[in-house]
Amino acid sequence: MNKNFLWGTATASYQCEGGWNEGGRVPSLWDVYLHENNLENGNDASDHYHKYKEDIRLMKEGGHKAYRFSIAWPRIIKNDQGEVNPEGVQFYHNIIDECLKNGIEPFVTLFHWDLPQYLEEKGGWAEREICDAYVEYAKVCFEEYGDKVTYWSTFNEPRYYVFSGYKIGNYPPGIDDTQKTIQASFYMMLANALTVKLFREMKMKGQIGIVHSYAPIFGVDDSLETKIAMRKADNYFNNWILDTAIKGEIPIDMLGMLNEKYDLSFMKEADFEAIKHNTVDFAGLNYYARALIKPYTGGESILRINNKGSEAKGSSKVVVKGWFEQVFDNPDSTYTEWDTEIYPQGLYHGIMRAYEKYKVPIFITENGVAFYEDVPNEKSVDDQGRIHFLNAHINAILNAIDDGAEVLGYFIWSTMDLYSWKNGHEKRYGLVGVDFENNFERKPKSSYYWYKKVCESNGATIERS
Ligand code: BG6
Repeated sequence: MNKNFLWGTATASYQCEGGWNEGGRVPSLWDVYLHENNLENGNDASDHYHKYKEDIRLMKEGGHKAYRFSIAWPRIIKNDQGEVNPEGVQFYHNIIDECLKNGIEPFVTLFHWDLPQYLEEKGGWAEREICDAYVEYAKVCFEEYGDKVTYWSTFNEPRYYVFSGYKIGNYPPGIDDTQKTIQASFYMMLANALTVKLFREMKMKGQIGIVHSYAPIFGVDDSLETKIAMRKADNYFNNWILDTAIKGEIPIDMLGMLNEKYDLSFMKEADFEAIKHNTVDFAGLNYYARALIKPYTGGESILRINNKGSEAKGSSKVVVKGWFEQVFDNPDSTYTEWDTEIYPQGLYHGIMRAYEKYKVPIFITENGVAFYEDVPNEKSVDDQGRIHFLNAHINAILNAIDDGAEVLGYFIWSTMDLYSWKNGHEKRYGLVGVDFENNFERKPKSSYYWYKKVCESNGATIERS
């Protein structure tokens, strides 16, 4: 096992920081959307804004080699004139310095969904102007932190973010508009390419990648119909991010299908050139589950996500009209309370497929499982279910490495309990419990101590199969 393997955990700014109106931070679209709709929000989140030193100390004591976190654009750039907020800039210097002081590699994501509201008001990701604003923001981050940070990611999960906001409508801006979904998807991938270009032009040290919500595709059978549905599903779930960012090619069969119904004239030749010539160095793959696919059987598109947990278990449904359907009730599978299938083999196959296809280094940038847990009333939650889940998934990664895949790091979602988008705080993923009612007290769970041994032994304590 590579002795430089990055064992770590991950968070995202809005989900853990809190301090939403402190230090000159301006509102993000999430603040406005959640406040206006009276929904549970991340105003305080896990209070990482004030407790980051304690959190990084726990990482160090927990054997971590790396910390994946995101920079909040609304802390860095105050308005659409590009005015920089020195206090916000300093906050991330503090985090990065604290990591380095503790021997922890900072693994930085530039955008994990908290778009400044002033940009959302100008049309957000559905308008071309956002690309310039994003590149300007990235430039400030590269200039400030470039000599300290080696691993950069442009975006966290473009697919999940864009589809949830523009098509499913359960994330801000909360609409169902396919034309805008296509535009936002395209502009995000264009912004990715333009930022990679800037990274090269600035001769930044280190590497730049993209983080994708990876759903390896499996079919219900080997029929031709299923295979065709699987290809469409792969385009929908994976290829438009990974092919575009890594190979510099947007899947042409997908564009052909979209072109029959939607207006793609906003995609310019120069955009395709930029995408072709500015590809990323690595793939960050977030893996929670595979997508089990069957052929489309009829009816309108339905994209229903269970954000209510056990209250709505089994309610998830994904039908993309004319393309495919996703299976959520496979009798041989186990699902979490939020309808996520537990399928570690999917991670092994997913890594092998991605590595064979793209031949770039891979980081598993998120992997984890959520449970309801009684953190306030227990001294330390004994989360054996999570340990079992993590062991099985790390085992899958080690098997893929044994079979030749270049996987360079693994990040558990999440470092500590935090705010889960639309699911609130009760959907807990953390290795460290957070008592949200009692001064955000940190309470490491059994999985934290288990993972410490994994990190310190460089994976040797994983039970292999
Ligand atoms: C990923 C995101 O989609 O999955 C995280 O990058 C998110 O931000 C995580 O929290 C788990 O999803 P959820 O919806 O259960 O919080």
